[in-house]
Amino acid sequence: MHNSQLFSDSLPKHIAIIMDGNGRWAKAQGKPRVFGHKAGVKAVRKTITTAARLHIQAITLFAFSSENWRRPEEEVGLLMELFVTVLAREIKKLHKNNLRLRVIGDTSRFNDKLQQKIAEAEALTADNTGMVINIAANYGGRWDIAQAARQLASAVAANEITPEQIDEQALAPYLTMADLPDVDLLIRTSGECRISNFMLWQLAYAEMYFTSVCWPDFNEDSLIEAITWFIDRERRFGCTGEQIKALMNAEQ
Ligand code: IPE
Ligand code: IPE
Ligand code: MG
Repeated sequence: MHNSQLFSDSLPKHIAIIMDGNGRWAKAQGKPRVFGHKAGVKAVRKTITTAARLHIQAITLFAFSSENWRRPEEEVGLLMELFVTVLAREIKKLHKNNLRLRVIGDTSRFNDKLQQKIAEAEALTADNTGMVINIAANYGGRWDIAQAARQLASAVAANEITPEQIDEQALAPYLTMADLPDVDLLIRTSGECRISNFMLWQLAYAEMYFTSVCWPDFNEDSLIEAITWFIDRERRFGCTGEQIKALMNAEQ
């Protein structure tokens, strides 16, 4: 087998990232928290570019949790504004690169303008065949399971399925991201080691990688380091960051 083929097979298919530490990163420089969120956008761009070059099938980024509404109103407002401007600014480029963008979560609580931008971005890129980028916004792992259960209950009420027939396979299709493989690599930045109600079902067998790097400092090398760790964890064979870089350059 060709060496790079061997490597492609051992890459994670679905990477999920809890992008944490924007606020602390800004505070360490004596800047307001929103400065960290803005810097975090650059890290998102780098991460997407690197993952796409490696032909990762899907990447899911935790941008706003269902619990983040508890933050000061001003910060929430600024984050919403940032979503709108970034979506508007980046979507054409994503489309040009054949990438598919989806927003996962209860978007009904977002303002009309943001909901409209999200719908436009999803529609524009819906038929693209490259990497799927899921932005988890107003997402919670428990919400995901609850909304799946609600749909399943409706199916029971419509006599399409009986309660006795409900098992894992019956629930799974109603979860968000049901068409994608389960997450095989979870990354959380900023040294925190918890899931914070991110994907619960889909993380059942994920390898979990925690790094002390704050999100705005996360770059191509950081992602390669995480992937190298993942491949070595899987014990397929020892691999180095250089080998992954070579693969990335070979497959452009
Ligand atoms: C992650 O950074 C970004 C969002 C949750 C939107 P934080 O804002 O949580 O930054 P810290 O954890 O307070 O440093
Ligand atoms: C999780 O980070 C949510 C996102 C990264 C969007 P938080 O910073 O909100 O999580 P906690 O509060 O530390 O658990
Ligand atoms: Mg945080």
